[in-house]
Amino acid sequence: MVYPGTRPTVLKNRRILLIVSGGIAAVKIPDLIRRLRERGASVRCVLTESGAQFVTPMSLAALSGGKVFQDLFSLTDESEMGHINLSREADIVLVAPATANIMAKMAHGQADDLATTALLATDKPVMIAPSMNVKMWEHSATKANLATLQDRDIHVVGPGAGDMACGEVGDGRMAEVMDIVAALTDFFVSRAALGPLSGQSALVTSGPTHEPIDPVRYIANRSSGKQGHAIARALADLGANVTLVTGPTQEPDPDNMTVVAVETADQMLAACTAAAPVDIAVCAAAVADWRMAESTTSKIKKTGGASLQLNLTENPDILTTLSKAGSSRPRLVIGFAAETENIIDNGIAKRDSKGCDWIVANDVSAGFGGDDNTVHLITEEGADSWPTLSKKAVADRLATHITDHIKKS
Ligand code: PMT
Repeated sequence: MVYPGTRPTVLKNRRILLIVSGGIAAVKIPDLIRRLRERGASVRCVLTESGAQFVTPMSLAALSGGKVFQDLFSLTDESEMGHINLSREADIVLVAPATANIMAKMAHGQADDLATTALLATDKPVMIAPSMNVKMWEHSATKANLATLQDRDIHVVGPGAGDMACGEVGDGRMAEVMDIVAALTDFFVSRAALGPLSGQSALVTSGPTHEPIDPVRYIANRSSGKQGHAIARALADLGANVTLVTGPTQEPDPDNMTVVAVETADQMLAACTAAAPVDIAVCAAAVADWRMAESTTSKIKKTGGASLQLNLTENPDILTTLSKAGSSRPRLVIGFAAETENIIDNGIAKRDSKGCDWIVANDVSAGFGGDDNTVHLITEEGADSWPTLSKKAVADRLATHITDHIKKS
């Protein structure tokens, strides 16, 4: 097990859905949340009815910094954050403490409350930290349930042995908080090392470019970098060795990759060329199409109401350059098409004109910068329209398609 202090950044930006079920060890969960957040993870909590007997929703909300989800049938939760989304917007689902009861429900696919429904609906890895009386832990029914869960690749941390709240001694104590932190750290380290894209290199562009007009002004666009950064993270999580070339954004630098910060299209092209050769290139950046034809070192002055004409020249096209790079062309080149109308047709035309393998055509009529995206994946086989998803879910889905393609090719 990796001691978490030696890998301080592995949990940074990880999204953990923490399901707290009803055992005395739930009293340790506030400390667990604190430790995870100290390491940069975000924690969203689901509290079962019996869990709420041991720890209050208010303390979990205060420590996690967000709403605590408790009710399957809350209309507000369903409209703002349906249970399906709740279970999929995480990088991992952690059940701590995991009682004998919730383990039995998980093993049998029961879904009679928000926690078990989220667990049945999730497509994300699940880790449990069992906690129960020693006799319950040793019971053949629990052993069979545990075996079923392990067969389904559910990760298990603990339990440990020792004095129990019920006065008995033996196995069944929930793993210590720092052991759970270490198990999560191990999980993310080994997932990247053993991931299906390990050994593959990927280049991702993200964010806008800023093209100086003069020393104090620039041409820019509203790209936030959310989509590009999410793709870089999704590929790194599957084990790819990622270089993220990003224009100016507010997005935090992901820790498990090389990040090259640039401002202009020229700098972005230079950074992409320096990163080559790579196996996979994804151009999600909103590169400014034009820059000033000539740079100026002094501020342009107002001229008493007269109009100003800027002499612009086209920027290099990074996607086209990568797509037509001859022997150093990536095996798979993916571009984005930001469109406001005729999205699929324009996407198909862009795939042809840029020479890339796939285009992710997205509807940007609502502007850049939001958390969701509606995209159509255009390949040589045609257009596959996806439902509106969070940018993270788009990234995960694209990363899965990339993995399948790379495995086949
Ligand atoms: O950053 P967010 O706020 O999350 O928003 C995400 C996004 C909308 C910016 C992203 O999903 C997206 O659509 N990125 C591409 C935006 C764009 O510039 O589209 P385009 O249709 O103008 O360009 C087509 C493709 O050519 C893109 O892959 C672009 O990266 C690439 N390009 C464009 C111009 C240029 N000079 N060099 C390029 O590589």
